[in-house]
Amino acid sequence: MTPKISWTSKFYVFPGSAMACAAVMIPGLLRCSVGAIGSEAASLRLTLSTLRHLTLSSIMKSKRKTDHMERTASVVRREIVSAAKVCGAASESPSVKSLRLLVADQDFSFKAGQWVDFFIPGVSVVGGFSICSSPRLLEQERMIELAVKYTNHPPALWVHNTCTLDSEVAVRVGGEFFFDPQPADASRNLVLIAGGVGINPLLSILRHVADLLREQANKRSGYEIGTIKLFYSAKNTSELLFKKNILDLVNEFPEKIACSLHVTKQTTQISAELKPYITDFSGLYFKTIVRQSKETWYYTFFPPPDTPSVAKRLGNHHVTTEHLVFAENT
Ligand SMILES: *[C@@H]1O[C@H](CO)[C@@H](O)[C@H](O)[C@H]1NC(C)=O
Repeated sequence: MTPKISWTSKFYVFPGSAMACAAVMIPGLLRCSVGAIGSEAASLRLTLSTLRHLTLSSIMKSKRKTDHMERTASVVRREIVSAAKVCGAASESPSVKSLRLLVADQDFSFKAGQWVDFFIPGVSVVGGFSICSSPRLLEQERMIELAVKYTNHPPALWVHNTCTLDSEVAVRVGGEFFFDPQPADASRNLVLIAGGVGINPLLSILRHVADLLREQANKRSGYEIGTIKLFYSAKNTSELLFKKNILDLVNEFPEKIACSLHVTKQTTQISAELKPYITDFSGLYFKTIVRQSKETWYYTFFPPPDTPSVAKRLGNHHVTTEHLVFAENT
């Protein structure tokens, strides 16, 4: 169900949803209300379930829906809808633009891997974009980062053509796909598998891992992190998003983080800097991915419609479904 939002009144509500009584301020009040809103919503906040593992069959049987609100209608969301202001924008590739948003509500929080419902004044379609920054960036600077691929979908069009610095929007966290290990949890290895703009939620996870590793180096305690291997493919090297950030993390933690890059339609020479990380996955790709230890969690994200086929191919290699987690949004 797509909520109807009125941007002209002081409050807006989500009729018919489980959150029908949530009322929040419009983004116009951002500047004077930082930290002042959300206490009412706090008492309504739902407890998020821990990681929910979807089965291969349910993924493959589910009809493909293109609208974010339809596709994710049954997915749990946080109560807080926070105003947010665009405070930075950059071109990440010929087709992807990233935004940095300053989030007004102090109670707004997320876990690495989650997405936001993205409400734009004057645009009736609600966007759904994965957060690619780490939870620490929000804690420290009240900032989240999104990377949005150009499509004809109205929210993506708005991001690419209309949005400017200081544009105001509203965001609400959702998604049952996240990585949030607690100090007492058993150590796990992670395998992250992404295609194209599907890197977003996995980059957030990778950045969160790096934050945990840095904290551990200082405190010498906390959650014992296993090894993390990222498999990332895109059309060509300019569509491999955030490659510098990724390689910086690999170089900072060479014993913990490794990455393997793949391009499918490269027409130009690959730079010397990237070359060592580029692997020819063809044929061997999925075999390489699944040759990991038992204590491994697989997180995979390819933008629809590719996720089911990736799931099927992993299934062909006997990756047990309980270790596979899929996401819904880019
Ligand atoms: C990658 O593909 C895009 C879109 O087709 C193109 O604009 C870009 O120049 C290509 N980059 C490389 C390095 O081939």
